[in-house]
Amino acid sequence: MCLVLVVGNPANTNCLIAAKSAPSIPKENFSCLTRLDHNRARSQVAIRCGVPATHVRNVIIWGNHSSTQYPDVHHCLVNMSGSDLACFDVVKDDAWLKGDFITTVQQRGAAVIKARKLSSAMSAAKAICDHMRDIWSGTPEGEFTSMGVFSSGNSYGVPDDLIYSFPVQIKDKTWKIVEGLAINDFSRTKMDATAAELIEERDTAVAFLGV
Ligand SMILES: *[C@@H]1O[C@H](CO)[C@@H](O)[C@H](O)[C@H]1NC(C)=O
Ligand SMILES: *[C@@H]1O[C@H](CO)[C@@H](O)[C@H](O)[C@H]1NC(C)=O
Ligand SMILES: *[C@@H]1O[C@H](CO)[C@@H](O)[C@H](O)[C@H]1NC(C)=O
Repeated sequence: MCLVLVVGNPANTNCLIAAKSAPSIPKENFSCLTRLDHNRARSQVAIRCGVPATHVRNVIIWGNHSSTQYPDVHHCLVNMSGSDLACFDVVKDDAWLKGDFITTVQQRGAAVIKARKLSSAMSAAKAICDHMRDIWSGTPEGEFTSMGVFSSGNSYGVPDDLIYSFPVQIKDKTWKIVEGLAINDFSRTKMDATAAELIEERDTAVAFLGV
């Protein structure tokens, strides 16, 4: 049994090329790492709300593992004093959630690393373990995580034939993109921008390598 996790940058396109180059392995068995970004988004919200990261769930990383990725908290829940509340209602600072929060996660959360005194290498190693553990054991009920996976057939209007980071749920070692989440105009624009970048990079790589 073969499962492939691509970590090296440009991770999304490397993963796509690897999948195309190994046609005997199902495309579903390939994924790329955006868990580091996901974990950072989660801890940013947690720090802001004064709760442990385990009390924050369902942040989403959309798109490329780069500075155009879109960390989205429109579906994120924060466990405050025992109840699950919408992230926007707990944080009560839309300007931050739509501004500095996004840029901080996109810029690799340097501030978080500095504050927590964890090296980036440790965080990456932990993210790889988190990613593989979730594939192996599944995601907890009602929770989703972010992974770069094959986009074909998704319901979010992301073009087919890309490796794009989506919210996924995993059961029986099989991931499924979480369907039916509402996407507002703010999110749409950001999801499209990161897709456009990946299309360009894919077409260049495919033309160059002839895969
Ligand atoms: C692909 O992954 C599935 C589990 O999701 C596994 O059962 C199957 O053996 C894998 N395919 C290959 C060719 O390794
Ligand atoms: C996508 O992200 C990777 C990793 O950060 C980066 O190397 C690559 O340049 C990005 N793609 C484009 C087209 O900018
Ligand atoms: C929320 O946190 C409390 C502890 O503060 C815990 O007892 C409860 O199970 C948590 N709820 C969820 C949905 O995680």
